[in-house]
Amino acid sequence: MEKKWWKESVVYQIYPRSFCDSNGDGIGDLNGIRSKLDYLQNLGINVIWLSPVYKSPNDDNGYDISDYQDIMDDFGTMEDFDNLLKEAHEHGIKIVMDLVVNHTSDEHKWFVESRSSKDNSKRDYYIWREGKDGKAPNNWGSCFSGSAWQYDEATDMYYLHCFSKKQPDLNWDNPKVRDEVFNMMTWWCDKGIDGFRMDVISMISKVEGLPDGYVWPGSQYGDLSNTTNGPHVHEYLQEMNKRVLSKYDIMTVGECAGVTIEQAQRYAGNDQKELNMVFQFEHTSLDYDENGKWTTKRFYLPDLKENLSKWQNELSGKAWNSLYWDNHDQPRIVSRLGDDSPISAKCIATILHMMQGTPYVYQGEELGMTNCKFGTIENCQDIEIINAYNDIVGGGKRTAEDFMRAVEAKGRDNARTPMQWNASENAGFTTGKPWLMVNPNYKEINAEAEVADSDSVFSYYKKLIKLRRDSEWSDVIVYGDYELLDLQNEFVFTYLRKLNNKTLLVLCNVSNGEIEYQVPTDIHGDATLLISNYENVKLQKDLKLPAWFSGVWEI
Ligand code: NOJ
Repeated sequence: MEKKWWKESVVYQIYPRSFCDSNGDGIGDLNGIRSKLDYLQNLGINVIWLSPVYKSPNDDNGYDISDYQDIMDDFGTMEDFDNLLKEAHEHGIKIVMDLVVNHTSDEHKWFVESRSSKDNSKRDYYIWREGKDGKAPNNWGSCFSGSAWQYDEATDMYYLHCFSKKQPDLNWDNPKVRDEVFNMMTWWCDKGIDGFRMDVISMISKVEGLPDGYVWPGSQYGDLSNTTNGPHVHEYLQEMNKRVLSKYDIMTVGECAGVTIEQAQRYAGNDQKELNMVFQFEHTSLDYDENGKWTTKRFYLPDLKENLSKWQNELSGKAWNSLYWDNHDQPRIVSRLGDDSPISAKCIATILHMMQGTPYVYQGEELGMTNCKFGTIENCQDIEIINAYNDIVGGGKRTAEDFMRAVEAKGRDNARTPMQWNASENAGFTTGKPWLMVNPNYKEINAEAEVADSDSVFSYYKKLIKLRRDSEWSDVIVYGDYELLDLQNEFVFTYLRKLNNKTLLVLCNVSNGEIEYQVPTDIHGDATLLISNYENVKLQKDLKLPAWFSGVWEI
């Protein structure tokens, strides 16, 4: 397998709004991030993925960009960005930017021009259609509830928005749009950034004629399958690779909702000349049900094992995996798969960090930050939650109480509560009023306490990261083959990693009870323990695994 720096990296995702506020306005900012570089260096990560920091009216917290070459007022200035980039590099940390080019903000100057008249030179930068029988051009529903089409009086036509109506989709079939995007990317690369995480990049090519989507039972709208993995997506990414990416030593990861293994092998295949890796979403929807994400349903462990193992095995040697539990769109894994306890956070981290691929740590995950009891909708800020609430509760389909339980289990705001830095007011995130409520558990769960405690979740993550990046087992952890054992066991996640003459055994009790367990592989002689969340563990054939036990040995 070809060695690459981005395969050997550990990425830390920062959601700037919620990370650290340096000026007391209640919103995190670039100087706040800069003040925490020592913390990140101490954790041991070497890449930051920065969620969008560009100019934006914040309908979707920066994923609605009104100027790609300027910084959001709330976050600071371009000079602040340049300082952050420089100091991050001095700390040995690279910065990967979020590239949101499936859509812009409706306040972007391209869209302002585009909507002004049918013959404006930017008209075809977006996807405009006539209505059909006085209604939207097709049945597509937006990811944020309601129709994916917005009627615009000025020209008596509709524009497509797969997300909010303030996020009109760009028309990638127009070569001028591609020129604009590639020039903008080049400008950032020339500044010295180290890569791109590409927002919903699998959605940039729509099926010609924009045919209706499939209407799933219970849904009012058609799905967006005709916008996903579309006919020209690989052609456009190869063009992007040729014109921009291939000219720099950067890393790229594409957010690819709805991607299959076969598609992932094309997006991130070794010889495809597209992207380095993709974010796939199969494992993050295994705890959905007929209500989609709005459910308190939990994972069934064999399903999760089977799915993650499929990606491990089928991309191995052909493409590259990104490994993640959390991001700014997902609830906290320690609540979702664990039971909010620090020991469960360590166990779950072990499962992921010992796999093949590039691991991503989302801010606060390294502290075991949990989901939040928002109680009422007034405590939420996320457009997805609020639109769904208005649709589902407002439409009388579910009670507010029932829906809020689902929000507390799956809503995106769980990931967006402010970072818990210390036990002082507002968790040390801001001296002002935080834009989103702070999780009340910050007195117990916070960075200051955990950095000082060698038994904390933070210290455990630090150890996991060091094992991967800088130990005698680095190669087997990064590049080794993966083999799942004992698929049907409902409580224990067991697998092997193998490279040359080294074999690692990873054993995790993903339950809060003690389990009697027979290790499903031969153990010859003494095994070397690499890491465990319990003390004094000796590997033998018959084990009693305490609640949330995790251990990794060379056998
Ligand atoms: C995916 C991003 O991760 C999410 O936060 C955002 O709302 C949508 N794309 C739209 O940009």
